[in-house]
Amino acid sequence: MRLVFSATGIAATLVAGLFTSATHAATHSVSSPDGKLTFQISDDHSQPSYQVTFNNKAVINPSRLGFDFARAPSLRDGLTISSTQRNSADERWQQPWGEAREIRDHHNELVVTLADSQSKQAQYQLRVRVFDDGIGFRYEVAHDSARYITRELTEFAVADSDKATAWWIPARGWNRYEYTYKTTPLHDAAHVHTPFTLKNKDGVHVSIHEAALVDYAAMTLNQRRPGTFISDLTPWSDGIAVKTNGQFNTPWRTIQVGAQATDLLNSRLILNLNEPNKLGDVSWVEPGKYLGIWWGMHIGKNTWGSGEKHGATTERTKEYLSFAAEHGFDGVLVEGWNTGWDGDWFYNGDVFSFTEAYPDFDLDAIAKHGEQVGARLIGHHETSGNVSNYRDQVADAFALYEKAGVRQVKTGYVADGGNIKRIDERGHARFEWHDGQFMVNEYLDNVKLAAKHKISINTHEPIKDTGLRRTYPNWLTREGARGQEFNAWGTPPNPPEHTTMLAYTRMLSGPMDFTPGIFDMSFNGLGDKTNRPQTTLAKQLALYVVLYSPVQMAADLPENYLARADAFQFIKDVPADWEQSIALTGEVGDYVVFARKERKRGKYSGKDWYLGAITDEQARSIDVKLDFLEPGQRFEAQIYQDGPKAEWKHNPYDLSIQKQIVTAQDTLTLKLATSGGTAIRFKAL
Ligand code: NOJ
Ligand code: CA
Repeated sequence: MRLVFSATGIAATLVAGLFTSATHAATHSVSSPDGKLTFQISDDHSQPSYQVTFNNKAVINPSRLGFDFARAPSLRDGLTISSTQRNSADERWQQPWGEAREIRDHHNELVVTLADSQSKQAQYQLRVRVFDDGIGFRYEVAHDSARYITRELTEFAVADSDKATAWWIPARGWNRYEYTYKTTPLHDAAHVHTPFTLKNKDGVHVSIHEAALVDYAAMTLNQRRPGTFISDLTPWSDGIAVKTNGQFNTPWRTIQVGAQATDLLNSRLILNLNEPNKLGDVSWVEPGKYLGIWWGMHIGKNTWGSGEKHGATTERTKEYLSFAAEHGFDGVLVEGWNTGWDGDWFYNGDVFSFTEAYPDFDLDAIAKHGEQVGARLIGHHETSGNVSNYRDQVADAFALYEKAGVRQVKTGYVADGGNIKRIDERGHARFEWHDGQFMVNEYLDNVKLAAKHKISINTHEPIKDTGLRRTYPNWLTREGARGQEFNAWGTPPNPPEHTTMLAYTRMLSGPMDFTPGIFDMSFNGLGDKTNRPQTTLAKQLALYVVLYSPVQMAADLPENYLARADAFQFIKDVPADWEQSIALTGEVGDYVVFARKERKRGKYSGKDWYLGAITDEQARSIDVKLDFLEPGQRFEAQIYQDGPKAEWKHNPYDLSIQKQIVTAQDTLTLKLATSGGTAIRFKAL
């Protein structure tokens, strides 16, 4: 008897997973095309778990998988692997706009079916894709009846976690994502948002996030045991995490892995895990640069609401449109044009009109003027977190803007965390999180409706980015972190390291409407005790290259640009759409250097390169090899750098602009002041 039993055991192991039993754990693994990164799944003790190695060293220790449901059995144990399937792909696809035109999708895939150990009935599939730059896996659950998920049990057990460092912002707090970043031992990160970036004792950099967040709640990470982060889905106001309607796929759980910090920045994992464009012809989606009737409100020079200081007047908008056209900008954002801003607008979500302009804002006349001079009005919808009021009007609001030739709308969902107001089916007010399933759907519905009007969306106070711009290319950009506005009124303003943090955290998820380019930093005086950008002028320029967005704002007032026409030239020249992007060097939170090649479009020939380098509070000198340039081609390097006396606190304006001829053979030594930067245009000769 014993002999027969063990022979069966051997057979089960040989046919890898087809007939595994509870006593013989099946283990399957799949590696990246370059063989360095490996994902392994096992059903030991009928408890599915996975682990990850990089260069044969553990990155993620065995970590559990599964779900708990309301009033239905959990999917956590009693499950064994019943079958597996393997695929691989090596394809290239094109972005209509982006940080790179062509993206390579090169991965190996393993699909594992988990079945009930007793009944042998399939319960879910885990689809795993391993790329050279990271891993994505998702659950595909075959239930045909509606289920409510109360907890997703996916764990990320960081290997050697006591020696790891993490960079993070807190989840489920009073704010959404607009915090300063913390650098701590990994064990001190309690409940965090993703992208969650960490570095292990071997210097391996890892970032945990998700891709294709659709009809599901955002995943935050909760460190419940030292080093083990468990997925913590942002719940509905009734406490349920996700309401499913039968068969469902989760978003991809992603783990980007690299030997150095810049590998995370050069990864295209998140985009590759999203579905291709579903909108068809998107030639109406226009990347570009814009100005705004905006900063004046943030520094108190103007108001959103009516009265003497009202920003959004017909006259001012016409002036801005003329200025924009004259200096080569595509659009002008105008906030505070519609009724409802009077009083404390933060709490005014119930009274905003999205179709009625203030009497001193003549939409038709403005549209006509824009057409004459050659710049477009950019629309604005601030909901102050009342989505039902917005939803009631949004179709008319987009139709109105479409008629006026508006191609982009910035939306806003200002409200404290957990305070998004909706009216439920029974007419009761409910208050939801910005990143729960309700709002995940709300943001995407808004983008889909906008597409019907050939309008693109820039969402502020958004759900975090998970790469949906690939599927819906009219979702151009978003905020979703502390932007420039905090330098006007935030406590504290963004510290010198802030943008060097964003590059390795928030920016891994996708484009950000940070709104760079503040030239007048003295509106409250200089020093480190006031609200102002805590940077040099050169750093403000470098941000256009470092912080990717297909629509980039020149955030300051026109008169401040005219006062520094020399520096303004860089903003006029720099494109917002790229053929290629390369993060050259950097360390998380300390510094970063990007080179990007412009994409052929309109006035851009597609031949020039740009470079942006920024540093934190440390001044530093960085040698940059220009070997990214085409060999044999000569370029005029137009270099905007911190002058010899520049330092952010008291002398931010010292800027030196030089020209020199360079080729791919050369190396440039960049000298960055404290919180300084360098911005370069390499003009092809
Ligand atoms: C918050 C946005 O981030 C900001 O840009 C905008 O000006 C205000 N909301 C008002 O809508
Ligand atoms: Ca904001």
